Amino acid sequence: MSIKMNFNSISFRISFFIAVLIAVTTIIVGFLILQDEKKTLEVELKKKGSYFAHLLSHEVIEPFLYEEQYEIFSFLKSFMIDEESLVVYAEIYDKARKLVVRTYKNEKWRKMELQPLNFDDVMSDINIQDDNNLQVYHISRTIDVEPLGQIGFLRLGITKKFLLATIRGSKLKLYLLSAGVTLLGVILGLWTAGKILNPILELNKGVKRVGEGEIGVEIPVVGQGEVKELALSFNKMSRKLKTLINDIKAAQENLVRTEKLYAVGEFSAGVAHEIKNPLTSIKLLMQTLAHKKQAVSSQDFAIFEGEINRIDRIVKEFLAFARPKKLEKKSVNINDALDEVITITKPKMKQSRIEFVQEFTSDLPLINGNRDGLKQVFLNLVLNSIQAMDDGDTLTITTSLNDGNVLVEIKDTGFGIPAKNLKSIFDPFFTTKDEGTGMGLAIAYSIVSDHSGTLNIWSKTAIGTNVKVVLPVEGKGQRDEGIV
Ligand SMILES: Nc1ncnc2c1ncn2[C@@H]1O[C@H](COP(=O)(O)OP(=O)(O)OP(=O)(O)O)[C@@H](O)[C@H]1O
Ligand SMILES: [Mg+2]
Repeated sequence: MSIKMNFNSISFRISFFIAVLIAVTTIIVGFLILQDEKKTLEVELKKKGSYFAHLLSHEVIEPFLYEEQYEIFSFLKSFMIDEESLVVYAEIYDKARKLVVRTYKNEKWRKMELQPLNFDDVMSDINIQDDNNLQVYHISRTIDVEPLGQIGFLRLGITKKFLLATIRGSKLKLYLLSAGVTLLGVILGLWTAGKILNPILELNKGVKRVGEGEIGVEIPVVGQGEVKELALSFNKMSRKLKTLINDIKAAQENLVRTEKLYAVGEFSAGVAHEIKNPLTSIKLLMQTLAHKKQAVSSQDFAIFEGEINRIDRIVKEFLAFARPKKLEKKSVNINDALDEVITITKPKMKQSRIEFVQEFTSDLPLINGNRDGLKQVFLNLVLNSIQAMDDGDTLTITTSLNDGNVLVEIKDTGFGIPAKNLKSIFDPFFTTKDEGTGMGLAIAYSIVSDHSGTLNIWSKTAIGTNVKVVLPVEGKGQRDEGIV
């Protein structure tokens, strides 16, 4: 039994409850028995007192009639000589209610102030008056003799001292018994609590361990009946849970493998598809040249070069995405990086008659990043906007400090992205452009994520597109992602 003695523990409370219950029951039963005993003893004492009064009232007749006071005195005294004697005083009165003889058991009683005898209450039979002050029964009766009738009165004091001592002894026994029984109750309570609760506590421990992630925990099967069944059920459940979790893990691993294979397949198909177009162009041109037995002209060379460059670009971008290099990071001023991108793309904007608005916040904090990587992100985004715009459209680039992060907004009034395409724009090779590889946003997203930043795109057809890039400033990390 490994029950810790804790005042709040169920075991303590149960044992305490049992102990209190037993103690209270013992005290109540003991008290009732005691009351009964007291009553019996009182009746006994009164009977004895009555008997003495009866006896004395007969025995004093003769000396009383002959007025032998000393005889009466000696006779009364003979009832009080013994230490254990119950009679503590005795009085004899004559018919005229005049005291004839009075004697006490000892000095103590002589000093006691006795109430005068109320003669009117005294009848031929016994009259008992309970005196709780003096702890005495005053027993009085008349002294009668045939044919004279009543010749006097007799009163005795019967002490309750021995009765009270007996009751006190019984009380002490009752207290001792209650204490013993209470102790027994505590022991019994603890034992019962241990017997009943230990299996439940074991179960509780098991449930806790499972809750903390320890799968497959089994608890010792102890106890009887439902408690035992509960332990068995728990172990069964725990075993099942373990099997289930292992199955789920295996299925998950399988799924991840399948997903990976699927992704590789998708990706390869994308690359193959992209490479197929320039390869077909090269093949067709070569076939034509072979067929016509013509020499390769500079024009043909330009086509070959262009197509080969396209294949090279696709492969490079594919590699950049599939095996991204760990970007080296330094302090970067985002405004400067954007300025460089704007310088490169300005001629293109002019060519397409796009209005350009620049709203930079001048004192932006530096961010810890890779300048080339971030430039590539902004270039992809600005090019996407330029490619989506026409004469008179506006491109706005804003930088600001937002919630302790640097926020770059690239906003265009181009044709926007149809809702059905929004979920695919970050997928590698997703493009709606003839010349596009569809890797621009995929790479941008991957680079921004590498900076613990976020890239969100809001777009509506015929209204335009708003791209928000949030980058944490140096020494601060944050991350959330998605499409708005
Ligand atoms: N600002 C924009 N306005 C309208 N459509 C956009 C915008 N940005 C992206 N898109 C859409 O998202 C698609 C994917 O963009 P992404 O940059 O990944 O590839 P791409 O521009 O098509 O090709 P690449 O950038 O590789 O040359 C684009 O083809 C286009 O349909
Ligand atoms: Mg692009």
